[in-house]
Amino acid sequence: MQIPWIHLHGAVTHFPIALILTALAFELASLIWKKPDFRTVSFWLVGIAALSSIPAVITGLLSAGQVFAGHPPALLADHRLAGYATAILSILAFLIRWAQGSNANSPAAIRASLVFLLLACGSASYAGYIAGVMVFGPTSAPPPAPVVATGSASVPAEAAQLIAQGQTVYQTNGCTSCHSMNGGGGHSGPDLTHEGSRHPQASWQIAHLKSPTSETANSTMPPYNTLPADQLKALAAFLVTQQ
Ligand code: HEC
Repeated sequence: MQIPWIHLHGAVTHFPIALILTALAFELASLIWKKPDFRTVSFWLVGIAALSSIPAVITGLLSAGQVFAGHPPALLADHRLAGYATAILSILAFLIRWAQGSNANSPAAIRASLVFLLLACGSASYAGYIAGVMVFGPTSAPPPAPVVATGSASVPAEAAQLIAQGQTVYQTNGCTSCHSMNGGGGHSGPDLTHEGSRHPQASWQIAHLKSPTSETANSTMPPYNTLPADQLKALAAFLVTQQ
């Protein structure tokens, strides 16, 4: 089974974000209400934020291929940079506080801590903002198409048409001579009955169809880079619905 890194990334990234924002809130509260104890709380919050930023970065790196294919590379580069910055800044914020020991409540130490926390909160928010654009799409996205029932699943009418078109492309381009699906077809390629569970991203399917070896090293499948873009899109839509 393919590990759903992207789901894990979604689950773990919110910990460092919430912790770093709360740490900043405690830091500010300690200044406003002159309560040094609040800074002890923010110290440990930063520590846990620093620790939890590590799995956030790792799952992010592992899931980049799953979710970001199909998005402009600049978005991924920005998200990744902001993610690294958040992790590094929160780790530094913690280590610097740690190193200051008994001087941790001096004005200079408080200033340094505030600067790191503000920067970490800024980069965490920016990383989250870009992730939102990638997950939910740009705000100019058209409203969702009306939903019609097709077989077991409900899919928008337009999508149903695309999937049907994809099935025709599948049947008329020799795919069946090498691949079986729901019982029928050839066997020199893998069975595609559950292809949508293995590779749920249409962008992966398109990239793979155009150049199989770019996605699967040493693949012997012939490239379909001469298929028109709309047929590739339809075919990919058909493949990802084969659950
Ligand atoms: C000449 C035989 C051949 C033809 C024709 C062919 N494929 Fe393939 N295909 C393969 C082989 C072999 C692999 C597995 C390569 C590997 O993993 O090393 C493969 C892999 C795939 C995969 C990835 C399966 C997975 O989950 O790993 C998909 C999807 C796929 N083919 C779709 C298609 C579609 C759609 C067509 C028609 C447009 C097509 N193939 C035509 C031989 C073929």
